[in-house]
Amino acid sequence: MSKDKLPRHATERQTADISEAQIAVHWPEEDYFSPSNPFIAQANLTDAGIFARFALDKFPECFKEFADLLDWYKYWETTLDTSNPPFWRWFVGGKINACYNCVDRHLATHKNKTAIHFVPEPEDEAPQHLTYQELFVRVNEFAALLRDFCGLKAGDRVTLHMPMVAELPITMLACARLGVIHSQVFSGFSGKACADRVADSESRVLITMDAYHRAGNLLDHKEKADTAVMEAASHGQQVDKVLIWQRYPGKNSSPTKLVEGRDFVINDVLRKFRGQRVEPVQMPAEAPLFLMYTSGTTGRPKGCQHSIGGYLAYVTWTSKFIQDIHPEDVYWCMADIGWITGHSYIVYGPLALAASSVVYEGVPTHPDAGRPWRIAEDLGVNIFHTSPTAIRALRRDGPDEPLKYNHHFKHMTTVGEPIEPEVWKWYYKAVGKGEAAIVDTWWQTETGGFLCSTVPGIHKMKPGSAGPAIPGIHPVIYDDEGKELASGSGKAGNICIRNPWPGGFQTIWKDPERYVRQYYARYCKDPESKDWRDWPYLAGDGAVQAADGYYRILGRIDDVINVAGHRLGTKEIESAALLVPEVVEAAVVPVADPVKGKVPDLYVALKPGLAPSEEIANRVSASVVSEIGAIARPRRVIVVPDMPKTRSGKIMRRVLAAISNHLDPGDVSTLANPEVVEKIRELAK
Ligand code: PRX
Repeated sequence: MSKDKLPRHATERQTADISEAQIAVHWPEEDYFSPSNPFIAQANLTDAGIFARFALDKFPECFKEFADLLDWYKYWETTLDTSNPPFWRWFVGGKINACYNCVDRHLATHKNKTAIHFVPEPEDEAPQHLTYQELFVRVNEFAALLRDFCGLKAGDRVTLHMPMVAELPITMLACARLGVIHSQVFSGFSGKACADRVADSESRVLITMDAYHRAGNLLDHKEKADTAVMEAASHGQQVDKVLIWQRYPGKNSSPTKLVEGRDFVINDVLRKFRGQRVEPVQMPAEAPLFLMYTSGTTGRPKGCQHSIGGYLAYVTWTSKFIQDIHPEDVYWCMADIGWITGHSYIVYGPLALAASSVVYEGVPTHPDAGRPWRIAEDLGVNIFHTSPTAIRALRRDGPDEPLKYNHHFKHMTTVGEPIEPEVWKWYYKAVGKGEAAIVDTWWQTETGGFLCSTVPGIHKMKPGSAGPAIPGIHPVIYDDEGKELASGSGKAGNICIRNPWPGGFQTIWKDPERYVRQYYARYCKDPESKDWRDWPYLAGDGAVQAADGYYRILGRIDDVINVAGHRLGTKEIESAALLVPEVVEAAVVPVADPVKGKVPDLYVALKPGLAPSEEIANRVSASVVSEIGAIARPRRVIVVPDMPKTRSGKIMRRVLAAISNHLDPGDVSTLANPEVVEKIRELAK
């Protein structure tokens, strides 16, 4: 990588005007909780010596241990190729298939074991229990359809816009069997958001479902496919086929009509493929398994490209040793498969270990806050995984509900946002009944799997802190000037990872320069260097390391907001607001929320002479929902007479954030228009 390709002054801002980390609440260090003896007695990892085996001087060969959990057609020759930093290549020369590792290899010993429990939202609908043998059959038949009906082959991309149903992992695994790269878009995203991802990934095939249940409604989902195909065409991407799963096979649950010659009901087409078998394609370890789009500092989501070998090795190892999954466990991760958590820790990790993984439809608090505990009791779930937002909502709506049910978790996870110590303690006492070990796992779409977490059979837990780095991960915290903070300093800075690891994404799809710029430019020591030590990975989070080595994550340092555990770019929301013709300026700020962690407040200024109105504010909100999805709906749209600005015309989001969070905006006298601050404060009351 030549110097001119690696600008020292990144064009994308990596320090926002106002970031989550800046408004993070600082809670005091908490006491430790110990994992129980019964948990330790059965844990997959209890030897603290593991950390010495994964010390930096054992890097990268130590990661062989991860890849050895998988079945390889051909063993790799080079564990890590660093010849083109920071494009790391893991297990080079190896041949592998992800679907084979998650399905076929279990048939000899586990074919009658449940692979996927699907729990429909309506409680009068019986759950479905798909054995590994049934999964094998369904994946093969669908892979045959993708190959022979759609003409898909290794390396092609397919966009999935599917809700939480068993057909989603079936679809992913069928793609993986063929070496086809899947790009699953969260079902709550709008048709337009789906279109951007269809176009960027150049998908000719879109796979969707007619409808799904959510919070008491059967939502029409097929209509989003029509928007997605139309909008993708306007970005120059033709979709030839839309494949539609039916929520109730044999019955159409969507009022949206099929388009002749383009739309196909999967169950009709599948009839021709009954009983067919498809040999798993022996793929290079370094070939991409999937793309996962995520928000960054610009309006454009980026497609994080994950490899087959490195990614699968990483999620399998972390599922075994951090999630403590054994083949006999019933494991329920409540995340949506449309996010990285679902890919890594509902589908690929647990299935690679032959566990039974629960896929549930709906939301945790509907029809009431007892639902998760009923499901756990009914299915005998013993490992449970969810987000602070879900925990806060369940605690708010049903603080005593868990104690009414006879479920027993040995292990629980929290992921995706900082968890407040009092929320952690409720999770521990009420949900875990004081029996479960808890891991607070910090990681990201880009990282494929966990980075920081306690090892549940080794470490004590500390509420509100993720824990130390997991074996093989070596973080470092830098200040804004690039100075390394002493380990355990208790000072806040920007957390980076010193070394590559197999689960890390390979690049941003079709945008390698952005990959370098955004994640490596800031703290790269020498752009000419081929030594991985010179290329720390910038995670984009603020963090503090306490004297005991535990990390506490403060939140994003860039223009990203984590709303209810969903990652949204403020620029994406602002761009959607600017589509409303009356709007000339838009600024989004994060606001602390007792349930969702953070929510966006959206400030807009109108063209000169236009009067603010509720109608305009509503249209701004509607534009955000239509461009991105309901998850991005602003808490409030506040129409202001002018934005607070510096003399050079820059919007001072810091001042807006202070107003929204009821904090002191500090000295505003140097603004070009200090008088506007009071007016905005009145409007935002
Ligand atoms: O800010 C961090 C926060 O979630 C971001 C990553 O979001 P995403 O890519 O959508 O992946 C979510 C699932 C891993 C991070 O940059 N985050 C994630 N886990 C934690 C967290 N913040 C605090 N504590 C965590 N355990």
